[in-house]
Order: sequence, then C-alpha cells, then structure tokens
Amino acid sequence: MATTLTTRKLTEGVGAELVDVDIDRLRNDEELPEAFMSALEEFGVLLLRGLPIDDEVQVEFIRKMGDIVQFPNYPNPDVMEISFDPSNPNVRYFSSNDHWHFDGSMDETPAKAVALTAHVLASDGGETEFSSSYAAYDLLTDEEKEKFAKLRVLHKFEAIQRRSYSDPTPEQLEDWATWPEREHPLVWEHRSGRRSLVIGHSASHIVGMDFDEGRALLADLEKRATSPDRVLRHDWQVGDMVIWDNLGLLHRACPFNRTEPRRMHRTTLAGTEPIT
Ligand SMILES: [Fe+2]
Repeated sequence: MATTLTTRKLTEGVGAELVDVDIDRLRNDEELPEAFMSALEEFGVLLLRGLPIDDEVQVEFIRKMGDIVQFPNYPNPDVMEISFDPSNPNVRYFSSNDHWHFDGSMDETPAKAVALTAHVLASDGGETEFSSSYAAYDLLTDEEKEKFAKLRVLHKFEAIQRRSYSDPTPEQLEDWATWPEREHPLVWEHRSGRRSLVIGHSASHIVGMDFDEGRALLADLEKRATSPDRVLRHDWQVGDMVIWDNLGLLHRACPFNRTEPRRMHRTTLAGTEPIT
C-alpha cells in the first residue's frame, strides 16, 4: 500500500503541517520522499513540528529527493548555518533575508526546495513568512497576463543589498559587482504547466522599460503578491523543520534582536528546471 500523509492546512492559500511524520518515517519510509514532493507541489510549504531533526537526519532525508547544493565555506557543506554570529562566513549577506525573495534567484536553475530547521531562537520575532508566486500570477488580470508574457527582468546582487544598505561603501559596491547577474522572464511557465512571477529582492528592473517605471511595476507586483491575507507567517519552535517549494514561493525573515544567538540550519535541494 502506498504511504499516506495526513495534512493540516496552515492558511487557506499556502502551507500544511504534516501531522503523522516522525523521525522514524523520515529515515525509513522509502515511499515518503515521493509523497512529500507531491504534497510540496500542492501546499508550497510543509511543516514538521518539534521533532527535533538533527543535521544527519535532515541531510539524509533531503538527499533522497535529489542533489544537495553545497556550501563549501561551512564545516558541513550540506548545511548552511543562518545566524548573525560574527564568525558565520555569510553573516554580511543575511540582512537581505528580511526582504521577499526566492533562493538562488540569480541562478539559471534555482534551488528546487529548501529545508530549514530551528536550533536556537530569539526571544521575540524571527518568524519566516511565505507567499505564493504562483498565486501572484493567477491574480493578474487577463490584460496583465498578456502584457507581462513578453517582459524580462534583470536580477542582480546589488538590487538585493541596496534594500539593506542604501548608502554602500566602495568596498561593498566592489564586492557586489563580483556576483553574476541574470535575466529572467517575468512570467515563468513551469514544466508542470503552472506559471509564476519571477520577482523578489534581486529584481532590479524590467529590461527595455524606463528604469523607474519598471521598478514601480516590480514593487506593485511584489506588494500584491504578499498582501497579508496571502501570507503564511511561521512562528518557529525549536525542532521545527519547514520545507518550501523555492520555485513557486517567496519568503522572508521577520525582524528580531540580532545580538541574540538565533541559529537555523538550511539544507538546499538542487533544482533541475531552468527558468524559461
Ligand atoms: Fe532565503
């Protein structure tokens, strides 16, 4: 008999808790990965509450669903630690997590899914919010769908960082310029046939459109996609694992006191579908 998942929706539009998955099933239920990916496609965000899951279990489970993106500057390249500890090799970039985005937005083939587990939490705040970029497309008028079908968006690192650092130093500008930029269609038609908007914090401008006009359009689309009634806000407990469909979701971190030792562990499932 095929494995089954019992789900509890977290909002009307996005997210479901898996109420009957435990560590034993993560490790030993060989049919779980397929059922899990199917639920991920349906709900966009899946929550496993308070198990807790250590790095070994997390990595072993994600690897059953494909390749893991490597982060060679971390002691375990399968696991990126997200914290504001000054020794964290990526600490200078994490401020940008406060703005709506999907991960790997300047890659031709972005990550398919991301798993995040909560190890240490701040005393207040630090929730993660999710919103569907499939729904963002579906919300458009027919006229907009037709007009936007031909538009292309330039995604670049500087656009991300300028949201956090409006007055950058020459050193920051030099660093940001070393990152590759990527032109994507505004509307991505996925292999599944679903369409989503390719927007978020790295979207700099619309190619061939007046710069300010293009930025205003991107800001408007982001605002509509992330109106509070469309957002899942996940209030973390230690031991939670959340996995999201990185191809059809935007996410962001909510503010918290960065002097507190909040620490999340991220494992990233590599993508197999370029944005076209
Ligand atoms: Fe992210």
